Amino acid sequence: MKRFITLIIALMLISSVSVTAFAAGVPSPDIKRMIDYLVLVNKENQLPENWEEILILVTVPDFEGGHDHRVEYEAYDMFVLLREDLLSEGIQIELDSCYRSVAEQQDIWDRFTEEYGIDYVRQYVAVTGFSEHQTGLAIDICIVKDGVTIDDNDLMIAEAEIFARIHAKIADYGFILRYPQGKEDITGYSYEPWHLRYVGSPEVAHEIMDNGLTLEEYLQLGPDDEL
Ligand code: DAL
Ligand code: ZN
Repeated sequence: MKRFITLIIALMLISSVSVTAFAAGVPSPDIKRMIDYLVLVNKENQLPENWEEILILVTVPDFEGGHDHRVEYEAYDMFVLLREDLLSEGIQIELDSCYRSVAEQQDIWDRFTEEYGIDYVRQYVAVTGFSEHQTGLAIDICIVKDGVTIDDNDLMIAEAEIFARIHAKIADYGFILRYPQGKEDITGYSYEPWHLRYVGSPEVAHEIMDNGLTLEEYLQLGPDDEL
């Protein structure tokens, strides 16, 4: 009987998660912790099947009045703190592209293919189903400099000094730079200074960032590997 009651409670919990899954709100810590913050999604690893059922997204208005953004609940809280910290140093970052549905990822693939060609797209855009943006844990940021929004890929790469200062802070808030320079062979993508990935805690983020690792390398470390 006790087991049956436990099962019923578990089922109720799971169903309440899917109800809150695409809504803003304040879910309990138990519920929001159901997702694996270290999930690996890359060219070889697809989004886990039940991901969207346990994902809790908050909806955030765009700072310039564009489309709303959706971000995983905890990742967004930490982004807000990171943004405030950077603002206190005179650097303004904003949400540019966060959670993407299958249709949104496909739309980006199609638009970029038309605009830049397939070779460029393969370096910068994931095939639908294989994008970290579908996890809700990836945040593409843009910067606002002297009142001007910089969100173009090449222009952002040119802002090396500002991005170095941003990258120096992100691990304090549980984010890593997901596609670093020099690691293209491992991540499968070109350098993306704008693409931050939430990994669940500042401790893990620091282990990855302070040791110059990619998520792929970090997840392959054995218990005896020294950092
Ligand atoms: N820009 C990254 C690779 C994506 O499209 O998910
Ligand atoms: Zn991105």
